[in-house]
Amino acid sequence: MSNKMWGGRFSAGPAAIMEEINASIDFDKKLYTQDIAGSKAHAAMLAQTGIISAADRAAIDHGLDQVKSEIDQGTFTFSRALEDIHMNVESRLAELIGEPAKRLHTARSRNDQVATDVRLWVRDAVDDIEVQLTSYMEVLAKLALEHAGSVMPGFTHLQTAQPVTLGHHLLAYVEMAGRDRSRFADARARLNESPLGAAALAGTSFPIDRQMTAKALGFTRPMRNSLDAVSDRDYAIEVLAAAAIAALHLSRFAEEMVIWTTPFFGFLTMSDSYSSGSSIMPQKKNPDAAELVRGKTGRINGALIALLTVMKGLPLTYGKDMQEDKEPLFDALPSLSLCIAAMTGMLSEATFNEAAMKKAAGAGYSTATDLADWLVRTLGLPFREAHHVTGRIVARAVAAGVPLHRVPLAAMQAEHGAITADVLAVLSPSASVRSRVSEGGTAPANVRRAARRWLKSLAGSPGVGK
Ligand code: ARG
Repeated sequence: MSNKMWGGRFSAGPAAIMEEINASIDFDKKLYTQDIAGSKAHAAMLAQTGIISAADRAAIDHGLDQVKSEIDQGTFTFSRALEDIHMNVESRLAELIGEPAKRLHTARSRNDQVATDVRLWVRDAVDDIEVQLTSYMEVLAKLALEHAGSVMPGFTHLQTAQPVTLGHHLLAYVEMAGRDRSRFADARARLNESPLGAAALAGTSFPIDRQMTAKALGFTRPMRNSLDAVSDRDYAIEVLAAAAIAALHLSRFAEEMVIWTTPFFGFLTMSDSYSSGSSIMPQKKNPDAAELVRGKTGRINGALIALLTVMKGLPLTYGKDMQEDKEPLFDALPSLSLCIAAMTGMLSEATFNEAAMKKAAGAGYSTATDLADWLVRTLGLPFREAHHVTGRIVARAVAAGVPLHRVPLAAMQAEHGAITADVLAVLSPSASVRSRVSEGGTAPANVRRAARRWLKSLAGSPGVGK
């Protein structure tokens, strides 16, 4: 059978393979809420401008409600022959209400329709992600306040560098999530324009009111250029880029969780509810959720690259290639949501092992910089010279197999005669972190202030205090 939407020009129906490659209904059925909302707004506008009658609009509106409830309830029969959600909805509407349904597509094309639907879907997904990021940040900031004074090793090259506070480390991720949130907010503001009324590509000869449909769908304004409206997907790419960066941040933290839960580190104990066991090794407790956050970041990055690649060679305006925008979006954004939820859940239930962290903070000569700074501050040595003196003292500690604060004073004095016992006071990890009071530094007092500032700025945002 030739297609009932455009059968006029066709004498034969599609080959089975054509139907398979062409149909998007298997995945774009997800857009039904947005599609129906768009159709309702369009019908209301058509009636308001006198393009269709008020009676037809009422029939359409009522019919669309029924279609929506059939889909909601799972009684709707989706058809691949009808290709996509737009034609599935319209065709069922025609079965339900007859003639008026055939007027719905006046001054509209699937090109502006799909562009509208996907923007609405992405907007909702972004709103959910923003709320989730906010509660993730709140959980982190609370933990940071609790652990403002908990000392742990800070790393560069994953080698012990200098002692830091756990609170400071956690707040680093709050800063990242804060930027992620603002990237999504920026993208949302740019995407929230209405393509509806661009029709196939050139606009329409009907006296439509694009301001009206834009407003009804919560868009800030109609898109200014009809060719652009139907053919760009930059907003989707931008949101996927924001998602990829956000996922990358989560993935780095997830990787740290994996490392921290190993017995070699023992900084973190994951709750049973966020771990899994092994089918063969009875002792195992694996941080699977963290590993999966790390793993899902791969597919989120993949979605971004997929859509960039789909779009890169397309001449204006619409090309069917663009149908390929949906699956990456439908996969990546819910995946990111799941990752944020999993990180928030893991962190809410995990236990930080302060003693293990503190012990590790003192290992690896982590306070060598404090010793060098003491030589500069107290003895007036130029920093470069202090660095050398300290390096020689560290070498003595390494040779003797002792931590820095156990190097005998006489041995230190052999490297610089003016060193006094006072130096010992700066060699403990706690003293080290307490001294890092420079703006943005790791001192507990700074961390407390920063955590409180975050909690105050997050208060009242959706998703906080749940
Ligand atoms: N299913 C299509 C898509 O997702 C809808 C637009 C079809 N437009 C067209 N001119 N064939 O892109």
